[in-house]
Amino acid sequence: MIPDLWYPVAISGDVTDKKPKGIRRLGEEIVLWRDIDGKVVCQGARCPHKGAWLGDGRMKGNAIECPYHGFLFNPEGKCTLTPAMGRDARIPGSLKVPVYPVREKHGLIWVWWGDDRPESELPEIIAPREIKENDRVYDTISWNKPVHYTRYIESVQEFYHVTYVHRDHWLNWLDFMFLYGTKKKFGLDGKENYLKATMIHNHHVETDDDGMTFRYSFDHGEEDNPERSIHYVITFSFPCMVHVETEAFATTSWFSPIDEENTEHIFRVYEFPQLKPILRHEKLRRAMSTLQCYLEKFVQDPQDFKIMARQEPRISGGGVNKFIPVDEMNAKFIKTRARLLREARERREGTPAAADVSDGMVGELDMATDETRTGQPSTAAETKGRTSARANGRTRNGASSGRNGSSPRTGGAPGNGHVAGNGNGSNNGQAAPESEEVRNWSEDRAAARS
Ligand code: FES
Ligand SMILES: [Fe+2]
Repeated sequence: MIPDLWYPVAISGDVTDKKPKGIRRLGEEIVLWRDIDGKVVCQGARCPHKGAWLGDGRMKGNAIECPYHGFLFNPEGKCTLTPAMGRDARIPGSLKVPVYPVREKHGLIWVWWGDDRPESELPEIIAPREIKENDRVYDTISWNKPVHYTRYIESVQEFYHVTYVHRDHWLNWLDFMFLYGTKKKFGLDGKENYLKATMIHNHHVETDDDGMTFRYSFDHGEEDNPERSIHYVITFSFPCMVHVETEAFATTSWFSPIDEENTEHIFRVYEFPQLKPILRHEKLRRAMSTLQCYLEKFVQDPQDFKIMARQEPRISGGGVNKFIPVDEMNAKFIKTRARLLREARERREGTPAAADVSDGMVGELDMATDETRTGQPSTAAETKGRTSARANGRTRNGASSGRNGSSPRTGGAPGNGHVAGNGNGSNNGQAAPESEEVRNWSEDRAAARS
């Protein structure tokens, strides 16, 4: 289950008027294409005739043509031609594909997941000033990994793992030299400094007025030499954006949920402002961003994936982590996501849902306690304590988002389809919160379908 919001699902440039693009997102099979005015259309990707994959279809006038028997479907999802019956045949009304609310903004395609409302009543797409007011040249690429998007987001929301995770590939030397190396030593002391950078100093988390964006600033550096550190500002916006900014570089990741086991990582790198005077041609600066994108895809991201692939439970949520104070951003993300999930569930069920462990509501931001520091396992009493803390103080961050209506969900957005296993067998032994979540997502789809 995921909160009711706009989700980025693809890069704008990847959807053309030449060929439909069939993808799986939000647990649903969808097809994206452009109508004759260039407007993006998002529809269910299964042909209602015999279930062929419309992602393999063709564009025909202002319609998508099924690759199997050539039925045409217009932007409203209506079948307008069944060639085998001739041009004048009466076409049954049930030959139609579902159409989903879709918008194009910030270089991405966004699909609404939530209750069925007229387009004009849907909320704005959430984007912080780092995205809206950013006029730097950039490039964006995407790839997918069998990781739940909560774990992906957690990992990019902090940078103190870099010292341990991103140090063994020879291409990591670029980071060592340019980020951590000193000019005096031509950057050659980079690796040494990088390995010494284990401490987070001056960390501070702010929340935007709407409660949907958090900004985390900190210095990453040596414990004994705090002045030798790199200043980061990491911005997170719901549902799945993480923007990282330092003096040297700026990147944005959107972690688009494919289903409960897979995530599409949409990754953007902005030009280096320092290079602007040297590289006058925009194309060259964009090419630098492209190169950086591929470095992330083939070097850093696989290093992160190696860790995430073996993390348990696979889905993060309340009660599954023992955070330390510098994890405040992670804790706020998990806690707010839990609230959004609960609100979505309440809207659908029409009644306040009980706050149980599976909804991820955590008392004091899921912080590690004294008992856990001494290595004692979490006790039933501790769990109970957390549960009652949830019941008492769960609106600490609870300014209502004001983004969601109160009508129960009627299936106007992607909510159906089946969760495909990734076949890697790594999902065994999952903890209760995860299986609960998988169950909820399936139920959600069933409800939307009925
Ligand atoms: S399956 Fe699509 S036209 Fe037959
Ligand atoms: Fe990383």
